[in-house]
Amino acid sequence: MLEINHLEVSYGAVHAIHGVSLKVNDGEIVSLIGANGAGKTTILRTISGLKKADSGEIRFDGADLRKTEPSRIINLKLAHVPEGRHIFAQMTVEENLEMGAFADGSGMEAAMADVYERFPRLRERRRQLAGTLSGGEQQMLAVGRALMSKPKMILMDEPSMGLSPLLVKEIFSIIKEVNKKGITILLVEQNAKMALAISNRAYVLETGRISIEGSAKELLDDARVKKAYLGQ
Ligand SMILES: Nc1ncnc2c1ncn2[C@@H]1O[C@H](COP(=O)(O)OP(=O)(O)OP(=O)(O)O)[C@@H](O)[C@H]1O
Ligand SMILES: [Mg+2]
Repeated sequence: MLEINHLEVSYGAVHAIHGVSLKVNDGEIVSLIGANGAGKTTILRTISGLKKADSGEIRFDGADLRKTEPSRIINLKLAHVPEGRHIFAQMTVEENLEMGAFADGSGMEAAMADVYERFPRLRERRRQLAGTLSGGEQQMLAVGRALMSKPKMILMDEPSMGLSPLLVKEIFSIIKEVNKKGITILLVEQNAKMALAISNRAYVLETGRISIEGSAKELLDDARVKKAYLGQ
């Protein structure tokens, strides 16, 4: 569904991504694991067209994303839940969800009913300003907003960041549920243990290069992964 080949990305003189190739098959959860500054967010932002690549290929569902306007990428049914959530603090929960939809009228109402069914807590708080939600609720809202566009695939950037252990568990089980409904997921995480537990496959990114790749099970058993990312 998503295929990246020999991707190179820089910020001025800083070469952030060096020849990264990866793929995500239809229906999979694939994790991208790596330390702070490894380039995980850069890869997601480049897929979404928010950052320009220097070279390489990014194909999604047959389309060449490097030739697609960022504003049109969402029409291809590829959603992005950015780092730090980026909800609209001064809008209500419901208004935030509306911002995520492209359908209006009954299409939007149906999408919203789906989101509320998955996140009853958002329904209870639908008239509350999003900025007053707890961290975990804001994360649910960010995921809910992505679901409003009825995506085939969601890019998620550290959904567990800043959440208590209980909410981390909840957000990972939500990701798994969303995937079971047929949505493919590329998950960026520092919480390697939780990410690998729900993933089919994973890649380890070190200073802009893929250093290890394999099935989630292979990575959980890999001595280097255990030492550097699982604290074992
Ligand atoms: N706007 C920018 N201008 C210059 N350098 C940047 C910019 N954004 C990111 N970088 C650099 O690119 C590298 C990769 O950053 P990126 O945010 O992709 O890392 P990350 O793996 O997502 O890290 P984290 O886990 O801390 O979120 C870092 O060295 C970072 O300093
Ligand atoms: Mg990041």
